[in-house]
Formats: sequence, C-alpha cells, structure tokens
Amino acid sequence: KEEFLILAIESSCDETSAAVIKDGKEVLSNVVASQIDLHRKFGGVVPEIASRKHVELINPVIEDALEEAGVDYEDLSLVAVTYGPGLVGGLLVGIAAAKAIAYAYNLPLVGINHIEGHIYSNFISHPEIEPPLVCLTVSGGHTDLLYFEELGAYQILGRTKDDAAGEAFDKVARVMEIGYPGGPAIDKLAKEGDSQAIDLPRPLIYDDNYDFSFSGLKTAVLNYINQKKQKGEEIPKADLAASFQQAVVDVLTAKVVKAAQDKKVKRVLLSGGVSANSHLRRELEEKLDELEIKLYYPQPRLCTDNAAMIGTAGYFKYQLTGEIAPYSLNANPNLKL
Ligand code: KG4
Ligand code: ZN
Repeated sequence: KEEFLILAIESSCDETSAAVIKDGKEVLSNVVASQIDLHRKFGGVVPEIASRKHVELINPVIEDALEEAGVDYEDLSLVAVTYGPGLVGGLLVGIAAAKAIAYAYNLPLVGINHIEGHIYSNFISHPEIEPPLVCLTVSGGHTDLLYFEELGAYQILGRTKDDAAGEAFDKVARVMEIGYPGGPAIDKLAKEGDSQAIDLPRPLIYDDNYDFSFSGLKTAVLNYINQKKQKGEEIPKADLAASFQQAVVDVLTAKVVKAAQDKKVKRVLLSGGVSANSHLRRELEEKLDELEIKLYYPQPRLCTDNAAMIGTAGYFKYQLTGEIAPYSLNANPNLKL
C-alpha cells in the first residue's frame, strides 16, 4: 500500500468517534457523535446510557468516517483503538469493533491510552513539534503534568490528588446551574465577570511539587453559594465564574511554568478538553512567552475527545515500537500512562 491509512476508534466516555489518518498526521476524516444532549439532564455522563448509545452509533460512525475519507476497508493499513482509561462499557464497544475489522481485513491492531491520544492531538495541529517537552493534559477525567525527552517515554511529574480540572468546571457549573458541560459555560460567562471579585483558594499552588487538588476549591465555591442563599442574596454568577476560573488557571499556570523551568524545555504542550479554555491559553501563553518558551495547543475540535488523536498516537506507537495488540485486548478503565 502506498499510503499508510489508519482507522482509529474512540469510545471511552460520551463521544463515539472514528477517524481516518493518512501517514500519521493528516486527518482525512474525524467523525464525532457526541452524546452531550443525552447526558445533559443528568448533569454528567451516565455510564449505562453511554454504553448503549455507543453500541448504536459505533458502526454508522465508522462507516461515515470511511466514506468521508473516501477510503475502503481494503485500503487500510492499521486499526487503532482506545483501550483505557475510561468507562468500561464504552471502551468494550470500541474494542470489539476494532478487533472485528482488524480480524476481517487482516490488519494490525494497536491499543492506545486515551491520555496519550490527547498528547498526540498536538502533533496533528503542529506537525513540527519535537521533544523534549512538558505537557499538561487537563480533561474531565485527568490532570496530568508530564515530561518527555523521547516520544512514548513519559515521566509523570504530577497529577491531581482528587478531582480533575474539567470535573471541577463541570461540578461548579452544575451547582451554579449554568449549563452542561461546565467548562465552556464557565469560560463564556467568565468573560462578563470580575476575576478578582471573590476570594477563592488556590490549592497546592506554592507547594514544592507538581501535584494538583481541585476538590477544596470546588467546596469553597459550594460554601460561597450556600452562604449567599442563606442570606437570601443573589449569586453574582459572572463574577463567581470568573473568580473560579482564575483560581484554576493560576494553579495550572504556576505548576506548568515551574515544570518548564525546572526541566529547561523550550516547548510546552497543552491538551485535553480544558485546553480549550480561552483564559488558560492566554495566561499560560503570556507567562511562557516572557521566558521564551513556546506554548502549543490543539485546534478546538481536537481538544475534546476525538478519534483523530488516537489515530496519530497509533501511528507513532506502531512506528516506534511495532507493538501490536493481541485479539485478547481488553478494556482497562484505570489504565495509566
Ligand atoms: O477531553 P475531554 O473531551 O474528555 C475527557 O477525556 O474527560 O474533556 C472534557 C472536559 C469537560 O470537563 C469540559 O467541561 C472541559 O473538558 N472543557 C472545558 C472547556 N471546554 C471543554 N473546560 C474549560 N474551558 C473550556 N472552554
Ligand atoms: Zn479525553
């Protein structure tokens, strides 16, 4: 085959996605069927509903991805699939589909860590980047600060001890009743608010480590809302959104800048759903600019869950290690990097 075409599948949370990637970095198609509307009334992802929806959507989404790319099953060179971390039901649906296609068309199968996918989303948007790199992956499920000198060999500098950054956005937005998912809602509302209006904690910000903690901040917002309610006072939602977002951004920025300086890197990557946050991008870019360090983040469509990033991660994993997953590949909901 002249072209190296990868079919990638992602179903670890509430998006059913399939993509076709050419030669590692060129996205021929990236179909994402989001279940956001289904889960909205529950204020969060309901695993049982998600699994059932994945079953319904997986085949049409794969067909769409191939059709949009103008690619037949026979043209494919590799199948890449997320096998963790995530919700076990959703992961199993994607894995079963990937195995069936790999088996039917005699293709190598590569299992991908979802977090690694998020990291590689930057390699689609910016094909020129090279390690050494510091990378912050911030999503609904993860807050991981990594360093790597070589592709594939990650040193975990720190991660969250409790809630993920995106989870904190979602929970705060839920108690504020401003919409789901919370991140984009807070991002938008914060633009109308004063980020200094409400004094909120910045957990672990000055600690000499790279760990994060967001549950105390979330509780502080909850307490603030309860006090306001008790006093019968109106909640200044825009100010609260801006102040909360500022607290998260301050903590993330402080730790990333510290890591970039300690590791003496010239390039920093931001990835995961929260990397779509406009304030985080701006503040981090500014701080790193002063130190002549360049910040990269994926284009918006590649920040949140999608299969294109899994395809690119699959390409690199296959090229670098040649590691092929057996047909016994299983979902690993707690898979670590
Ligand atoms: O990467 P992702 O799609 O799924 C996981 O792997 O978790 O990330 C989803 C998370 C949600 O928590 C959502 O609220 C957050 O990313 N998010 C944002 C923004 N857009 C999405 N958080 C802050 N600001 C945003 N603009
Ligand atoms: Zn994700």
